[in-house]
Formats: sequence, structure tokens, C-alpha cells
Amino acid sequence: MLPEQLCATAVAHPNIALIKYWGKRDEQLVLPAADSLSMTLDVFSTTTTVRLDPAASGDHVTLNGAAATGEPHRRVAAFLDLVRDRAGRSEAAVVDTRNTVPTGAGLASSASGFAALALAASAAYGLTLRDTELSRLARRGSGSASRSVFGGFALWRAGEGAGAEGDMSSYAEPVPVGNLDVSLVIAVVDAGPKAISSRAAMRRTVDTSPLYRPWVESSRADLDDMRGALERGDLEAVGEIAERNALGMHATMLAARPAVRYLSPATLTVLDSVSQLRRDGIAAYATMDAGPNVKVLCRSSDAERVVRAVRSGTSQTFVARLGPGASLRPGAVG
Ligand code: DP6
Repeated sequence: MLPEQLCATAVAHPNIALIKYWGKRDEQLVLPAADSLSMTLDVFSTTTTVRLDPAASGDHVTLNGAAATGEPHRRVAAFLDLVRDRAGRSEAAVVDTRNTVPTGAGLASSASGFAALALAASAAYGLTLRDTELSRLARRGSGSASRSVFGGFALWRAGEGAGAEGDMSSYAEPVPVGNLDVSLVIAVVDAGPKAISSRAAMRRTVDTSPLYRPWVESSRADLDDMRGALERGDLEAVGEIAERNALGMHATMLAARPAVRYLSPATLTVLDSVSQLRRDGIAAYATMDAGPNVKVLCRSSDAERVVRAVRSGTSQTFVARLGPGASLRPGAVG
């Protein structure tokens, strides 16, 4: 017999894609148009506790101590419905989420959030999932969360087909990597809220950008090249491929109608500094997501030099390394 009230706490970290996920072939099941590949970071963890509350009529969600309402609450409750369905249970839950990302840095991550929620909720509702199943579940909350289930480098497979076949075949898995020393310098240029959510921007790009299909094709080739570069432990190649893939993604958005532009003048200033670093013989390569902030891949021994080079024009910088996969807090299920 399961105890009447179960509780679990899980920790997960954000990930940064080196081969980007941008566009879904199925919005409901969160099936992507193409494979993507990321590195999980060792900073900005999310810790989430899920406690079943049989007496409550609905889910109660707090984010850094403040009650979530509107869309954030709806997304968490819809996600818990998936877990309840699967577990054959109906109790409401109390969800407490804490992010260690500095508030106002514009770096909050749905990837660490839904990876931690998937693990804590599945444990609290009595499900024991293999990593692949956990990754498929986290994917339903936010696509990139499928990759934060794993530490190090992770490849999220687009999978094949539609419906249940697509759902079963789309999950992340760890990528074996040669001896690669890599750090990521995070240059925060603008901490403000996004003008358009990544979800809406992705949809518009798929629906209207004439550059979208060609980018998906080139992204497939980038992924093959990236796997080779990772196996060889070739940081220069890893960086070059990551940078071209990210710029291509932003090009597809710029060609959307109306255009989606996340990159700001301050972003371009950092990109200029990164080019200058390369001319000075430092292996430094940039990638940007659905926002103006820049993440710079480099050797750990060069990280401080990179920080100094990108400092002008940025409000904050952080140095991250490879981090761990999602985990349950020992003794936290009960
Ligand atoms: C630019 O995973 O946030 O960071 O699946 O709609 O929740 P949804 O999108 P999300 O998109 C992340 C997009 C990206 C690239 C990436 O992480 O691969």
C-alpha cells in the first residue's frame, strides 16, 4: 500500500543547446522537427518539491515563494494531469519550486524547471520511470527539459512518426564525449522580459519563415559534424558548429513574418568581442537562445580572459561548466 500522502524533492540544471531545437512537428506532444544536442550546466539549479494533498480541490504552485497564477500555473497543472493519468491517481498537489538563478538576470529556465518537476512529480505519485521515460515526460512540459534529465552532453532525438509512435521515440540520451575541457561564459546583456515567448516565436517561424526548412536540413548536417567533433574532443570544431547553428536559427527567425528578433545591439557588441578573441588566438564561440544574452564556449583556462573581453556592454557574467543530470534528493520520497 502506498502511503496516503507522498512527497518528493528533485534537483535539475539548465542546459544550453549547441545544436538548437527550434520548431515542433506536433505541438500537443511536443515533438520537434529535428534532433538537438546540449550541454547541461553546473549553475542555476532548480529544486522542486511535490507533495500530494488529497484534501485540496486543485493544485497549488509556488515559484520562489510566490503563488503562481495564470499561464505558469496552467502549464504546471496540465503537466501534473499527465503524471496523474499515468499513475492512475487523482490527488491534487502542492508544488514548491526554487530557482537559484539570480532574479532579474533573464536566465530562468523552463528546462531545469520541467526536468525537476517531472522527476519530483513522478516520484510523488508513485511512478518509477527509466531515464528515457522521464525524458519523454519532461519533454511534454518543455521540449528542452527532455535534455536536462541528463548531465554532460545530451542528444534529444526527434523520433519518428506521429501520435503514440512519435511520443515513444522522442527522448534525450547521453552523448559519449572524448576528452573535452569546456566552460561556458554567460554574458547577460539584457535581463528584461522577452517581447515574445519562445513557444510563440517557434510557431511563427515554422509557419511563415521561408528559411525554416533549409535550416532544419542544415541542422541535421551540423548534428553529424558535432557528434564527430565531440568524439574527437575538438573544442574549435564544437564551437564553430555551435555558433553557425545558432546564427542559422536566428536567421530563420529574422525571416519570419513578422520578423522575430531577439538579438540586440548589445548582443552584437559581444559577438564582435568574441570574434576579436578568436583573432587574438583564443578559442571562443558564441551561441544565443530566445533572448539577447550570449553564451561563449571556451577552454576553462581561458574563461577569465573571455569574461574580461565581453564585460563591456554586459550587466553580469557567469562561468559555467558541465553539470549533472536531474536527481532526487536522498530520503526525499516519503
Ligand atoms: C532557443 O524548450 O523553451 O532554447 O518546448 O515550447 O517549451 P517549448 O520550448 P523551449 O525552447 C527552447 C529553445 C531554445 C533552443 C534549445 O534549447 O534547443
